[in-house]
Amino acid sequence: MEMPEVLISEGLIRKRVEELAWMISEEYKGVDNLLVLGVLRGCYMFMADLTRMLTVPRQVDFLAVSSYGDTTAAGPVRLIMDTRKDVTGKHVLLVDDIIDTGTTLQYLTETLKARNPASLKTCVFLRKEERLETDAKVDFIGFDIPDVWVVGYGLDRGDDYRALPYIGEVSGD
Ligand code: IMP
Ligand code: MG
Repeated sequence: MEMPEVLISEGLIRKRVEELAWMISEEYKGVDNLLVLGVLRGCYMFMADLTRMLTVPRQVDFLAVSSYGDTTAAGPVRLIMDTRKDVTGKHVLLVDDIIDTGTTLQYLTETLKARNPASLKTCVFLRKEERLETDAKVDFIGFDIPDVWVVGYGLDRGDDYRALPYIGEVSGD
């Protein structure tokens, strides 16, 4: 299997997640019903690190989406697993691994907003700014990256590379 080139090291990831956790904890100071909602599967490592470092009371839940494409091709979004918690009345922070065209995030924010949360904000670890095609809003961002295929820290290519502890670059399919 192709060896990824390191784009963002473990150390840099840790430092940035600490900063994000600090900013998010400031944002939700005094809030006692924060629900951190991760988008599976790509979010799993980022969620574990981020939710651990928050200093405000929080609950953790997940939903899962899938696009029809198998590897690197984008397709329409499907909700394949819904939350266990009812989001109505909660302060929801939606956490995703990466925003590419923004289709996923836009679909999810619309879906969740319709359920009347007390508030809804979004946090994504990576953003490919030049690829954005929607006006999906992101409130907290880890890193802006160029338009390359990235893997590791939860992100995959055809389900490989997910468990790498750093963000690497590989060729797209
Ligand atoms: P969007 O709906 O176009 O914003 O795409 C978001 C989803 O595409 C992410 O949640 C990822 O699952 C996937 N994705 C986009 N770019 C990459 C990448 O470089 N590596 C791994 N997954 C990616
Ligand atoms: Mg994803």
